Amino acid sequence: MGCIMLNANLILHRSFIKNKIDDRLYSAFVEHMGRCVYNGIYEPNHPTADENGFREDVKDAVRALNIPLIRWPGGNFVSSYRWEDGVGPKDKRPPMRNAAWTQTESNAVGTDEFHAWSKDVGAEVMMAVNLGTRGPEEAAALLEYCNLEKGTYYSNMRAENGHEEPYHDKVWCLGNEMDGPWQIGQRTPDDYAAIARKTAALMRKLDKNLQLVACGSCSFGISTYGEWEMKVLKACYEWIDMISVHQYLQHNGTNDPEYLGAATHTDRFIDTSISICDAIKGIDKKFNKTINLSFDEWGVWPRHRMFDDFDHPWESGFVQHEYAFSMLDALVFATMINSLIRHSDRVKVACLTQLVNVCSPIMTVPGGPVWLQTIYYPFYYASKYGRGELLESRSECPCYPAGKYGNVPYIDYTAVWHEDTKEITLFIVNRSQEEEIELKTSLTGFGGCSVIEHIVMEDEDVHAENSAENPDRVKPFNVEGRVTITDEGAVIKVRPLSWNLVRIQAEA
Ligand code: AHR
Repeated sequence: MGCIMLNANLILHRSFIKNKIDDRLYSAFVEHMGRCVYNGIYEPNHPTADENGFREDVKDAVRALNIPLIRWPGGNFVSSYRWEDGVGPKDKRPPMRNAAWTQTESNAVGTDEFHAWSKDVGAEVMMAVNLGTRGPEEAAALLEYCNLEKGTYYSNMRAENGHEEPYHDKVWCLGNEMDGPWQIGQRTPDDYAAIARKTAALMRKLDKNLQLVACGSCSFGISTYGEWEMKVLKACYEWIDMISVHQYLQHNGTNDPEYLGAATHTDRFIDTSISICDAIKGIDKKFNKTINLSFDEWGVWPRHRMFDDFDHPWESGFVQHEYAFSMLDALVFATMINSLIRHSDRVKVACLTQLVNVCSPIMTVPGGPVWLQTIYYPFYYASKYGRGELLESRSECPCYPAGKYGNVPYIDYTAVWHEDTKEITLFIVNRSQEEEIELKTSLTGFGGCSVIEHIVMEDEDVHAENSAENPDRVKPFNVEGRVTITDEGAVIKVRPLSWNLVRIQAEA
């Protein structure tokens, strides 16, 4: 490992603080899909199940991630979901077919159960309303159920169901991927813009404290990207706060170097979406406010290693979109987190997709244990040490040809400043398969510095993965001797195909 050495430079300055990072960058997504809810967070017969049927061991793994906000109940699922079927006495709730994922929704977990579970794991709920088969009236009814003091029909219904106090959910999604050809109730840009505007206006009248997210395009690659955003923003600008961005970085199964460069596409997607928001703001000069991004679905999809069990259509809790994530996937995943942090001046919410079992960091064995995928760890450490202020920087680094992504720097990094503890945190990925990189980091204005710790994830086999049988195959570990403090700053040795967390104590 690492017989060739390359050099790269990084310049950080104490005064280059760009913005405070919104804690909601470390949010997640739970959808009624596959084994995410049923046979995932909810398994009433499991030995650790609480009195409501939720697994305690899953809650522990979720709590450790310190997630501030969880988007629910979909995803594609929401586009034909009737929320009323999921409230009230459980024995009266109708099982329904949900066509999005050809599964039966038992309605055992509904709005009240999910709020209770989220509270238990320390998170708030980011609600999504159905703008596929339904519209403003049903969205307003759900908002009344969740957020308004009792005294009217739906708020009284909540109180009668045992929840006197409103939930006061702040962030609401106006549908999901409404441009997607697979979406139930797919809409044209004009059609969606009109219904999103009406829904947003009505919801705001009922609750002035909302932050509303309009649907952006389902992907950067779809032909209507851009046109969709412009129409939606023009129609809804005054009523919304954010527009959504969704992206899953995919591996073609053969070209690892290309896959390693894929998060440069995340940078481009975010930059382009910000430009579109600002173009509409600039063109239509009556708008003073800035629209930010809600990156409310993101992750990696190594599709050649995906497990789906479509032999059980119309059952509940069967295997859909499950992956065994490798060390390689963890590296790409970590570069995506870096992209989100780098753009945290405009990305205010980001939801890791999904939280349990479905393309997830946390896996469960029915009746058995929880185990953690490789991707769990970069998220865990980003959530723990990636809150604070973004440090702007300059860098010089050799590049390599990453197929369709063009020339991509070997080193991907981000730097976070913690004013309270005077700590600099660096998240660094080396994309090179062979070269160790010596990263000369100039630290100005921070006073004397010392190394707190250096944690890495690396493995001789970049395709190694964790599993229920071997859950600790790939895990982060502490290393010493790879960071040297100098008069100018620090010299960090970054091994090939490694993820690194370097924590530096500053004086000033
Ligand atoms: O996360 C799985 C699906 O991916 C979501 O339901 C949908 O919004 C996206 O296309």
